[in-house]
Amino acid sequence: MKKNLIAVSAFIGIVGLNAAFAATEQMQHQSHHHDMSMMDMRTSLGLSAEMKQHQLSNMREHVEAVQSIIGLMSENKFEDASKIAHGKLGLTPEMQKMCSMFNNEKFMTLGLAFHKSGDDLGNALQTKDVAASLRALNKTMQYCVECHATFRQ
Ligand code: HEC
Repeated sequence: MKKNLIAVSAFIGIVGLNAAFAATEQMQHQSHHHDMSMMDMRTSLGLSAEMKQHQLSNMREHVEAVQSIIGLMSENKFEDASKIAHGKLGLTPEMQKMCSMFNNEKFMTLGLAFHKSGDDLGNALQTKDVAASLRALNKTMQYCVECHATFRQ
């Protein structure tokens, strides 16, 4: 009886130890994971304070343009949506100049490709074809996602 009790408590002890070990291991794993996600691995553009504000306000206009385009599409106003795509997301002289101000070739290439896709979107919207327009919008937004995943200010 006493022997059994010893065996049982030893067993509980081992199980408890294992559980504690597993728990610490998991905690270490989690904190490791946490450290990684806290680190911003994206390439910094090294912008001046002024350029930062300028870029962010530009970006807010981009997201507003996407919202307007979706809203206008839902109201069957493809002509208006097309104008916004060309004027706000397309490769206007202003956007060309803006993208060329950055001291990073890859960013510039990505930015110019993005604005070209904005013009493609404008052309797709002109056909009033919903599926083709959504495909073009998806392509344009792939550039938003790709650039944000690659660069930070
Ligand atoms: C060529 C690169 C590039 C493309 C393309 C791009 N962005 Fe950005 N965007 C940036 C960078 C860089 C920042 C700053 C991010 C940071 O430092 O964390 C930013 C920030 C933003 C912000 C934050 C604005 C604020 O005031 O905080 C929004 C919103 C945004 N982008 C929307 C968009 C949308 C919508 C699109 C596509 C239609 C887009 N961007 C395309 C580079 C890009």
